Amino acid sequence: MTEKNNRRKFLIKESTRQRCKIWPYDEKTARRFAPVSLELFSYLREVSAIDFSLFIVACDEIIEFIKPNELSAELLEQMWQASIRPGADIDICVLKADLPKFEALINQVRNKKIRIVLEKDRTLDARVLELYSSLSSASQMIVRGGINNHVANKAIDATASIMSSQIDSDIAVGTLSRMISCDSTLYDHSASVAMLSATIAMSFLKNPLSREECQIVAQCGLYHDAGKSCVPNHVLNKPGSFTPEEFEIMKTHTILGYEELRRAIDKGAPVNELAARVAMEHHERFKGRGYPHGKKGRLEDHAEGIHLYTRIISVADVYSALLMKRVYKAAMSSTEAIELMTKNADDDFDPEIFYPFCDHIRTSIEVFREREKQSASGSVRMISEKESFSEALRNIKTERKHKS
Ligand SMILES: [Fe+2]
Ligand SMILES: [Fe+2]
Repeated sequence: MTEKNNRRKFLIKESTRQRCKIWPYDEKTARRFAPVSLELFSYLREVSAIDFSLFIVACDEIIEFIKPNELSAELLEQMWQASIRPGADIDICVLKADLPKFEALINQVRNKKIRIVLEKDRTLDARVLELYSSLSSASQMIVRGGINNHVANKAIDATASIMSSQIDSDIAVGTLSRMISCDSTLYDHSASVAMLSATIAMSFLKNPLSREECQIVAQCGLYHDAGKSCVPNHVLNKPGSFTPEEFEIMKTHTILGYEELRRAIDKGAPVNELAARVAMEHHERFKGRGYPHGKKGRLEDHAEGIHLYTRIISVADVYSALLMKRVYKAAMSSTEAIELMTKNADDDFDPEIFYPFCDHIRTSIEVFREREKQSASGSVRMISEKESFSEALRNIKTERKHKS
């Protein structure tokens, strides 16, 4: 495919026309297809065969670009390049009927990556990554767009598992923070925001929220960027900084996410109303310099304030974004992320949420350093069922003092 003119951005090569089936893409056809997020598309690079077709929507035509058993790195690369070209407005799709096959394949790849990461870094917690994997599976369905009962139930199941897991909060944030340095492709922004924000709500607040409330916070985390499915790929994945126009487009994901979630709720999908509110508010900042409405302060103090769930999620959101490796920026370590966030913390975040969060991140760094030492020396200390990891760390230090 090559660029032709402004009216029609792509000309489909004759060789592609001969190789692939092509149809006109109208509203009726569109209802049979579901777009694939670029993150998930990149997982297909780990796969040697597929038993479904991959399609490209270009302008007013849809192309069956890769048929079952025709998968090759070269064809995947062509699809990738077409989809990230500036102004392309190209979508990669699968037939809705093939979504279960596609999702099963992606889950297989994700779980394989997780097994490799666990072998590479023995300090990581397998249970945290198992929960993360199901959050990621739900999150990718949301990012792809089209929230319905199936997607919403998946979000409920994944977040319910966090609540019943009783995982130590420092282990959860530490495992999430370290995982990215082992395999950056595993890092799923909304899944990590869901887990981090649930952890903040459960363990880091002066008045921790109830289990039910924490589960809703986690769901709000999964849905917070739902509107990004409406932002064109060339803006979403742009290497380098945005032009003012592109930034305006990017900012619309807050309102678009709110609208998409409202539509799903109105159609009866089991999504909590607060998820729509959080999607709208999550780029508001504590002192009012955020968007889209420049809200400030706490909703508990005045009607124009920011909801508690949003204030939790905005801390998790920024931290997660800084840890993430992107085309245009390197991943930061936990320490670097916290240092950077602290510079503008008083303007951006609720201090009652941000500072306890920082303390816990620092503790988790220490916990994992200790865990590293133990796994290096081979002297892994067994932790009793009743002992949290942070308690274990304190006990290890006391035992050492007594020995020396
Ligand atoms: Fe966002
Ligand atoms: Fe986000």
